Amino acid sequence: SRPALIDGFGRRLSYVRLSVTDRCDLRCTYCMSEHQTFLPRKDLLSFEEMERLSLFLIDSGVERLRITGGEPLVRKGVLEFITRLGEQVHEGRLKELTLTTNGTLLEGAAPVLAEAGVKRINVSCDSLNPEVYRRITRGGDLGKVLAGIEAAQGEGIHIKLNVVALAEDNRAEIPDIIRFAHKRGMDVSLIETMPLGDEISGREAQFVSLKDVLSSLRSFWQVEGVSDTTGGPARYYRIAETGGKLGLITPLSHNFCDTCNRVRITCTGQLYMCLGQDDHVDLRAALREDATNGGLEAALAQALAHKPKAHDFFIAEAGLAQPERPHAPARTMSL
Ligand code: GTP
Ligand code: 5AD
Ligand code: SF4
Repeated sequence: SRPALIDGFGRRLSYVRLSVTDRCDLRCTYCMSEHQTFLPRKDLLSFEEMERLSLFLIDSGVERLRITGGEPLVRKGVLEFITRLGEQVHEGRLKELTLTTNGTLLEGAAPVLAEAGVKRINVSCDSLNPEVYRRITRGGDLGKVLAGIEAAQGEGIHIKLNVVALAEDNRAEIPDIIRFAHKRGMDVSLIETMPLGDEISGREAQFVSLKDVLSSLRSFWQVEGVSDTTGGPARYYRIAETGGKLGLITPLSHNFCDTCNRVRITCTGQLYMCLGQDDHVDLRAALREDATNGGLEAALAQALAHKPKAHDFFIAEAGLAQPERPHAPARTMSL
């Protein structure tokens, strides 16, 4: 195997998020504008390129791989790709192969995912009210998502619901969502809206501080901090009354960068060492120019030297009230 990937602050990269497409069958209001345009196919890494890259990373000590998008399940061939990566899980070279999905296509995919060795799936679902869900996603069908979740659970896959906290749309519903999930053995992560993307209007007005959400939950539930971590941005709690786990992802009101073990690779093969920064390294060029992986090695070394100590959305607490502009990266989560 290759030398481990260690950044300039001594953090070992063990977790990679790999986006397989920028496309999505939904248009969540905080994520995409109504008129989002998508990339031409030739700009995307092919599955062969992604597999070569993944094997290289696994060889360099990456232990967890999370497949994301856009919506990963809309790209043709993704299940075959995940099945091939699954061999790395079955052979013990990869500890975890996970997926973040909006769930609309999960019902049909669940058996293949389970077979491939996927044991955890994060499903984005911001409301359990079909009408509200349709409004947030601009047309999504909640029933399909719930059917997908049930199918995945039926295959023994553990589900975490990702819920972006939105002042107008779901703030009041959050306790019900947590109850619903915990009753069915799912975890929940609440997420603060992050200032990603240029063209999304109205997001600031929907911002909710999870600090406030937590204190209101504490008025009727006993919420205890737990030390579990996936090395990611979430801090986890356990709710005594429901017995379930609650993660809070608070990029703006709480800085989690010190222990950051992860990087993201966009569907065009751009390696971002930090979600909150525009710096990136072009792995696609490295892959396409050099069949021997020498280029990849050089590109990764360059990126590692530059992983920032912390994101710079705007660290000041007061920043919450500020416009999202100054440091907002132009790309959205869906890359
Ligand atoms: P696990 O910890 O493996 O369960 O995954 P996760 O919860 O981090 O992954 P998921 O893809 O479900 O993302 C949930 C939320 O965390 C999303 O809003 C992500 O954008 C956010 N997130 C994930 N990784 C990072 C990161 O490196 N930096 C920041 N700021 N946010 C992240
Ligand atoms: N801020 C916070 N979360 C976001 N997501 C997408 N865009 C944003 C944003 N701007 C969430 C999705 C999904 C997860 C991968 O990221 O709802 O759950
Ligand atoms: Fe699609 Fe997820 Fe973005 Fe919603 S948040 S538009 S489901 S990529």
